[in-house]
Amino acid sequence: SIIVLDFGSQYNQLIARRVRDMQVYAEVIPCTASIEEIKSHQPAGIILSGGPSSVFAEDAFTVPKEIYDLGIPVLGICYGMQLTAHLLDGKVSKGAKGEYGKAEFHLTQSGKLFKGFPEQSTVWMSHFDEVAKVPEGFTVCGRSESDIAAFYNEEKNIYAVQFHPEVSHTEHGTQLIENFVFDICKCEKNWKLTNYIDHQIQAIKEKVGDKKVILGLSGGVDSSVASVLIHKAIGDQLTCIFVDTGLMRLNEGDLIMEAYGKHFDINIIRVDAQERFLSKLKGVSDPEKKRKIIGHEFIEVFDEESAKIENASFLAQGTIYPDVIESQSIKGPSATIKSHHNVGGLPEDMKLELLEPLRELFKDEVRKVGVELGISPDLVYRHPFPGPGLGIRILGEVDAEKVEILQKADAIFIEELHKNDLYNSVSQAFVVLLPVKSVGVMGDERTYEYTCVVRSADTIDFMTATWSKLPYEVLEKVSNRIINEVKGINRVAYDISSKPPATIEWE
Ligand code: XMP
Repeated sequence: SIIVLDFGSQYNQLIARRVRDMQVYAEVIPCTASIEEIKSHQPAGIILSGGPSSVFAEDAFTVPKEIYDLGIPVLGICYGMQLTAHLLDGKVSKGAKGEYGKAEFHLTQSGKLFKGFPEQSTVWMSHFDEVAKVPEGFTVCGRSESDIAAFYNEEKNIYAVQFHPEVSHTEHGTQLIENFVFDICKCEKNWKLTNYIDHQIQAIKEKVGDKKVILGLSGGVDSSVASVLIHKAIGDQLTCIFVDTGLMRLNEGDLIMEAYGKHFDINIIRVDAQERFLSKLKGVSDPEKKRKIIGHEFIEVFDEESAKIENASFLAQGTIYPDVIESQSIKGPSATIKSHHNVGGLPEDMKLELLEPLRELFKDEVRKVGVELGISPDLVYRHPFPGPGLGIRILGEVDAEKVEILQKADAIFIEELHKNDLYNSVSQAFVVLLPVKSVGVMGDERTYEYTCVVRSADTIDFMTATWSKLPYEVLEKVSNRIINEVKGINRVAYDISSKPPATIEWE
């Protein structure tokens, strides 16, 4: 496998994903890992990632120097390159202006790492400090404008690049990673999801034995795939608890029961808790308060239901690899550990052991596993849906009537996207209900009804997003249908805000 040592770059996960796409297993571990820990993974290669720090900073992240003497190939990227120069007695200097974004890379000396590279190519840079002198015995093999952009020592199998080969803007980035993984580290293509599934089913069987497992099923990709996988391994020893908050999309609860309960024959206890949720939300309009109430209520309901299941020994969760990386992140005390919204928490005295069969997988891998297990691609590739659901898409106070209105409007929008073959080309689409009424006219009647907003966002990571440039005809159809078919709405607006400064959701 390949180990990616995490120095805090936003691209770390991307490095591991690129390697896995080449069917080689890659793991991200914190740069603070000891040499023993690194060795225990028996890596065929080590990649030192980028990071926001400077080698000159007082508390700069570093690695033990021995890492370069293990006989394992090392590739330093960005900060990883500067650190390599710094630790091996080259020289790093504070840059005058740094390089951000696209840059021209001039290859001055080829070699194993740059096999297949042309003399000139476009790369993606993001750094301030620069390497002024490479360590002794190393060869400068590429430059950008005047800066040193790559160096290596093939005898020692140490390589370093200033640019980010993992981002798609770097023209031959994939080629570079392939060269490292296959030609230099001699990895074999043995990371296959079908093997992973077989292996996990076996592991779950061994771990669980004849004991019972509880899983909180939300209908989201992660908990759904986890439930089907675990069910394959242990059948009826698994019980899923599905808390229907009543704040889900139109017919969502039935869909989940049909898709997982009926189709896969999984034991699912469905708790219809809309009344409970709505009564707790009555009179509350502050978004953060609504979120807290929904989260809290969810845990209450889940706890009550799971306490009814006797002799359960395991709590299964759809934790995936980005959650694991996030919780071990080295970004310091400010890093918050993600709380999983699919399962809240359980009474202390239940003493359940965790079962997390997806914790090594990235989201796209989880989806592939889902399809492989026979879940319909339509379900596996659905847009994300927030834990608090329509509770944060009905602005202000939430009540049953508004939920019904919004569910209908939202279903029309999604249906039209499907009909026009647009659903899969946007990242997240939904309708928001505003607590604003305006005047309209229908037939000869004056109306005074709610306004809804149609939102569709295009994004890769949900951190930044642009609004989808949907065709006017589609928007027109959506608007007409919502106003004609949904009683309670007489005006439809389209959200043309990008993130930042807006967010994707409205609350
Ligand atoms: P924003 O609105 O912050 O949303 O641009 C980014 C992504 O996160 C989702 N989201 C949530 N998911 N619980 C969730 O599980 C939440 O409280 C929550 N708030 C936002 C949102 O749908 C979008 O995909």
